[in-house]
Amino acid sequence: MVPTGEEKKRFVREKFAAVTRRYDLLNGLLSLYIDHYWRWVTARELAEFREGPILDLCAGTLPLSAEIVRQIPRPVVAVDFCYEMLHFGRAKLVSGHKKSEYIFPICGDGESLPLPDMTFQAITVAFGVRNLSKPDQGLSEMLRVLTPGGKLAILEFSRPRTPLLGPLYKFYLYRLLPRMGGIISGDREAYSYLAESIQSFYEPEELVYIMEKAGYGEVCFRPLTMGIVTLYTGRKPS
Ligand SMILES: C[S@@+](CC[C@H](N)C(=O)[O-])C[C@H]1O[C@@H](n2cnc3c(N)ncnc32)[C@H](O)[C@@H]1O
Repeated sequence: MVPTGEEKKRFVREKFAAVTRRYDLLNGLLSLYIDHYWRWVTARELAEFREGPILDLCAGTLPLSAEIVRQIPRPVVAVDFCYEMLHFGRAKLVSGHKKSEYIFPICGDGESLPLPDMTFQAITVAFGVRNLSKPDQGLSEMLRVLTPGGKLAILEFSRPRTPLLGPLYKFYLYRLLPRMGGIISGDREAYSYLAESIQSFYEPEELVYIMEKAGYGEVCFRPLTMGIVTLYTGRKPS
């Protein structure tokens, strides 16, 4: 069972802190390194915003922040409530990423952003909305800090609908993922949570409805890699 409310917040923060050091490696292995492509597509959604600033929410170890800056160097504020993830990501950038001066990590809660209204031209959230304890509250906060006409791009896991792939994917989620994740990260529970949270997350049409209800316009979604993930976009009305 996926916990809810404050209990989910505490659980999620603890689990990400526990797997921080193996997070990037496991992301790559478990997705056969297709996760780089998914973040590349997401960052490309922001190509019209050449000046920034951009908010990358639930930024974790900063892989999407780095991809955004790699495509077009402009300021990216990277928010996450797990200090360990941000710290590890920052250390990785300092040692290897030329563009680290564009990324500004802030430890904070996406459901109560420590940021002023109408600050960002665009916001990205990769694999983060599913982890929020109150996704609708997070979406309202993102709308508050977006400038009018600004764009939100959400990358999130979904469940393939192809008849053959569906059962195979379920086998992968419940059998392989917790086992591999457990062996490599040392925390099997974190990867059982990952499987459960993917399985219990909204259908794409439901998330579109929640985004519209939160006040976003021009909301649409695009399945990637046979629907294993979905990219959602919406705009703050001008
Ligand atoms: C699956 S990771 C995604 C990291 C990164 N965006 C990526 O593409 O790999 C989800 C991140 O969301 C963060 N998170 C979950 N709930 C949050 C919240 N309420 N506020 C801020 N960060 C949150 C977790 O700490 C974790 O680092």
